[in-house]
Amino acid sequence: MSISVVGRQTELQGIGTFLESINGGPRALMLYGEAGIGKTTLWQEGTAEARRHGYAVLLCRPAQSEVQLSYSSIADLLADLDEAVLSRLPTPQREALEVVRLRSQKPHATVDRRLVATAFLAVLQRLCDRTPVLLAVDDFQWLDRTSAQAIEFAARRVTGKIGFMISFRTTARNLDEPAFRVASPDGIYRLDVGPLSLAAIHHVLRERFGRTYPHPILVRIHEASAGNPFLALELVRVHGSGIGLGPRRSSATNCRGDCSRFA
Ligand SMILES: Nc1ncnc2c1ncn2[C@@H]1O[C@H](COP(=O)(O)OP(=O)(O)O)[C@@H](O)[C@H]1O
Ligand SMILES: [Mg+2]
Repeated sequence: MSISVVGRQTELQGIGTFLESINGGPRALMLYGEAGIGKTTLWQEGTAEARRHGYAVLLCRPAQSEVQLSYSSIADLLADLDEAVLSRLPTPQREALEVVRLRSQKPHATVDRRLVATAFLAVLQRLCDRTPVLLAVDDFQWLDRTSAQAIEFAARRVTGKIGFMISFRTTARNLDEPAFRVASPDGIYRLDVGPLSLAAIHHVLRERFGRTYPHPILVRIHEASAGNPFLALELVRVHGSGIGLGPRRSSATNCRGDCSRFA
């Protein structure tokens, strides 16, 4: 089911501006935010918009369970690679990418990391010499280490019409941000994905559950979820129409603690 994006005009405008700026690239857009706040929703809109622009789009969406799987995200990013691009690489680089994409008999463990990173850079450079490129990573924190190294290596060196759109989950414990760099020093944009307004949460619930909610209940849901659409949806899914009947919480933080077990 395709869900429309609610209440994110400013963010979508920012993503649109970023995509246009790729023509003067390289650029990177970092989407930061807590789990459930709406990063992936915006990220998907960004990739769809890039396709509408006619950009070449390379994407990967690593998961926590894949963090130990070497080069799994590089393989995903290159899944639809035009074989002609690969065939024009110097032989050692082409072979290294064949290994990473599991199209070679050579053992995976023997592949040299710098060689893969250099080959990946060469692919990106060739692609963006032909057409603007968007390389999009959703949930950067779950990249396997070897893929992260190759992406960061290439991002620091590639020049031309290329943009990196990276989403990164922030948590209360770990506010560390990835040290992601591109070749142009002022080419990094930041978008902090914040809470949705009460009206937007209402719209999301109405669209998902096909009904409206009385204002006081909406206020309770908005307060309890602190504008996090995932938490708001889970609250209603779990509590149904009984939401709002229980004792009033003293702070959103308490309720968010309760809700987090559903995340
Ligand atoms: N702006 C929005 N409009 C409609 N639904 C949204 C919006 N933002 C998030 N959602 C919904 O909230 C849930 C969590 O969003 P998601 O983008 O997966 O969050 P994150 O990637 O930050 O964890 C999803 O079900 C998504 O469809
Ligand atoms: Mg997500």
